[in-house]
Amino acid sequence: MSSTHGAAADSGSTSLPGLAEIADVGVDRIRGGYSRHLFDDADRTLRDWFTERASRLGLDVERDRNGNLWAWWGEPGPNAFVTGSHLDSVPGGGAFDGPLGIVSALEALGRLRDAGHRPARPVAVVAFAEEEGSRFGVACLGSRLLTGALHPDRARALRDEAGRSLAQVYADAGLDPAAIGPDPARLDMIGTFVELHVEQGRGLVDLDEPVALAASILGHGRWRIRFRGQGNHAGATPMQSRQDPMVAAAATIARIPDLALAVEGSRATVGRVSALPGGTNVIPSVVDCWLDARAATDDATNALLQSIRAAARDAAAVNACSVEITEESWSPTVRFPDDTRAAIGAHIAPRGQSVPALPSGAGHDAGILAAHIPSAMLFVRNPTGVSHAPEEFATADDCAAGIAALERVIRGET
Ligand code: GLV
Ligand code: MN
Ligand code: MN
Repeated sequence: MSSTHGAAADSGSTSLPGLAEIADVGVDRIRGGYSRHLFDDADRTLRDWFTERASRLGLDVERDRNGNLWAWWGEPGPNAFVTGSHLDSVPGGGAFDGPLGIVSALEALGRLRDAGHRPARPVAVVAFAEEEGSRFGVACLGSRLLTGALHPDRARALRDEAGRSLAQVYADAGLDPAAIGPDPARLDMIGTFVELHVEQGRGLVDLDEPVALAASILGHGRWRIRFRGQGNHAGATPMQSRQDPMVAAAATIARIPDLALAVEGSRATVGRVSALPGGTNVIPSVVDCWLDARAATDDATNALLQSIRAAARDAAAVNACSVEITEESWSPTVRFPDDTRAAIGAHIAPRGQSVPALPSGAGHDAGILAAHIPSAMLFVRNPTGVSHAPEEFATADDCAAGIAALERVIRGET
């Protein structure tokens, strides 16, 4: 597809023709992989591609007031079967996380149409806005707004790195910022939601299987840890009299692996740090670290957070700095309902073979929707086991197995 974003990233995105169509959109020449963030050029190009691709299939595309895109097969109405995922990426992300679910959904619908299937329920493909939270910091922004898991006042006030508010960015995209927020009428229309996604670990590699269903999602949250010190001269300030927030941040980060290892099965990551003002010869006045912490139960995630909080306070005190921790998003542990998974699994493997069920360490819009409607996820094997990085991959054969499984699910459900 023509775009201003240059040649395709060096990934396996061409293993699926639909992904090949968008392989040059949002290529990140500095980080590698893709950077596609809410309403930036790449995201707008992908939204146009989605609209065009879905319209070619005869689907009716609409954008809801929260910025999510819906492509309807049949009149929107009650008990709809909805599938889809997201188009945005993390900074320097892979080609599959998000777009695979959308491309597979469109492909499955196209095949069902061509085969003359006439669904007895409305069917829709959804592209949720800002699942990764890479621009505004809140994961699953579009599905949280839809379900009311994020208060619209808080959403409107969110700011991106350039200081632009979500309200401004939505207004520039032609959406009414006053109208964002819970959409119970739309939510009530969804009877079942199924999200197909590339697996983000090695579960299917170890099982030697191409597809699985999701059993659960680790509870997780994001926090901004802000250390404040005294900005000063790197040469003129003796080591004994510094208030250096970078040292406090580094000391905290260095303790995080041991703190996470102390909470069974938990994970904690600082993937982003910024120093203000950010000069080589300047002791910073402020350092922000963003923490991503996850664990199998909400209590465990909280316990991990409390230990990191204490470590940050200690490190701040030792360095004569202050520290403030702000929650950016919180997603409780999700257990997908057994009956929905069994029903979906029976469509995929009708002769009684079982489809494996795997836990997910990654968050998904399906996890947000699961609190309201029967939801399930289909994972497609990722031979590298790597995700949120350019090495993320799925072979053409496994993508085909995922599409075939989704096609059987849609046929069986509708
Ligand atoms: C999304 O992929 C997340 O788990 O952060
Ligand atoms: Mn992701
Ligand atoms: Mn994803």
